[in-house]
Amino acid sequence: MKNIELDKSLLTHAFVEPRKTKLFGSQEVVGGKGISIKLSDGRELIDGLSGLWNINVGHGRQEIAEAAHKQMKKLSFYPSAFEYTTEPPIKLAQKLTKILPKKSGISKFMFGLTGSDANETAFRLARMYHTIRGESKRTKIISRKYSYHGFTKAALGATRLPMYHIWEQPDPNLYFEVSPYDLNELEDLIINEGPKTISVFIVEPIMANGGVHIPPKNYLKEARKICDKHGVLMVFDEVITAFGRTGKWFCMEHYDCYPDFISLSKGLTSGYLPLSATGISSKIWKEVENKIPPGLIFANALTTSNHATSCAVALANIEIIEKEKLVKNSEQQGKYLLNQLKAKFKKNSMVKEIRGLGLMAGINWKNNRDAPENYMGRKKILANKVFANEFSMNFVSECLKRGLIVRPVGPNTVVAPPLCTSKKEVDKIVSIMVESAKHT
Ligand SMILES: Cc1ncc(COP(=O)(O)O)c(C=O)c1O
Repeated sequence: MKNIELDKSLLTHAFVEPRKTKLFGSQEVVGGKGISIKLSDGRELIDGLSGLWNINVGHGRQEIAEAAHKQMKKLSFYPSAFEYTTEPPIKLAQKLTKILPKKSGISKFMFGLTGSDANETAFRLARMYHTIRGESKRTKIISRKYSYHGFTKAALGATRLPMYHIWEQPDPNLYFEVSPYDLNELEDLIINEGPKTISVFIVEPIMANGGVHIPPKNYLKEARKICDKHGVLMVFDEVITAFGRTGKWFCMEHYDCYPDFISLSKGLTSGYLPLSATGISSKIWKEVENKIPPGLIFANALTTSNHATSCAVALANIEIIEKEKLVKNSEQQGKYLLNQLKAKFKKNSMVKEIRGLGLMAGINWKNNRDAPENYMGRKKILANKVFANEFSMNFVSECLKRGLIVRPVGPNTVVAPPLCTSKKEVDKIVSIMVESAKHT
């Protein structure tokens, strides 16, 4: 049986209606090089979303494969939850402290596997921090409308995109949302709920899955002041925005604002192996170390936490980003991409706004009609309610016909190619988008 037939019967695809997968199946991806992927039918597509915002260094990097091979031959993995350690997570933590802004004070790391677990770890650490300081009632988590923070229990509660809450609604006594940039709403919520009941405020510095929303320059600093005033800890979910995606190593550098915890994943390994990190500021960790009652532990470990091979892969990935100056490239090509999109879509009456920073951009379409019945396997009600509007969906289909993968989210289409994208490749991406818009 062909792989595609086997896929139909054996695997699931989260964002496709199950009965449609059964009928139409999926495309098999068999290779990738640079910013492109190859399908089993021989077609090549430009990976305009870097996989799922994560393949920062592009596809087919032999150096990374070799780093994994070398580490696996020596020692693939040994658990570190007890009194053992391995070299790669130590080296990776050392590297992260070098590339993170000094001002952040982030100097302690827990390595997990996914962005979701990085956020869970931050939430649990925050609870422990408050509890050992005598504030065990600080249990509530505030996040922002349209944000995505993962799909494990608490991360799902903090996620504020309705499609994730269709089957399981978060506990309304624990999870709260505020409008993305409304500082008054944030402070009012904290005061109304009772400051001593709030544990953390989590933000994606730039909301990506929500449609690439760039905050007003002082938003994060002002939010930080409010949180500090009320003893609320801040988590920056930089799962997408770190490792050069926004034209700086970390998005927080744009805003000169630093959190208590940072969540990292995606670009940490460019998706070559699963890995995440929760970075903890020294201020928080010192308090934990000093105040945790003797005999108690923070029992927060996955079997594969601090995975040696994943960490070796992350180090090779970061080395490529450094050697090839991909952060700079993201800044330069990102500016070019944004300017080109703005120039070429200037006369398009469907465009409401175009936003971007580094190699991530979103086109916000005016049209808000219902989504079509049969778009990429999504059933109408789901598409209407939670995915994207009709124009964005049709536009994405037209781009795909011309060999470019981009994604519809809400009334937006998002594009975020790998950080190794050249100027010529930006031109190609933009020209496909322009041509596709004409046929949408
Ligand atoms: C901002 C953000 N946070 C967290 C996550 C969850 O990461 P993962 O899918 O690796 O659990 C994602 C995934 O897309 C994300 O975009």
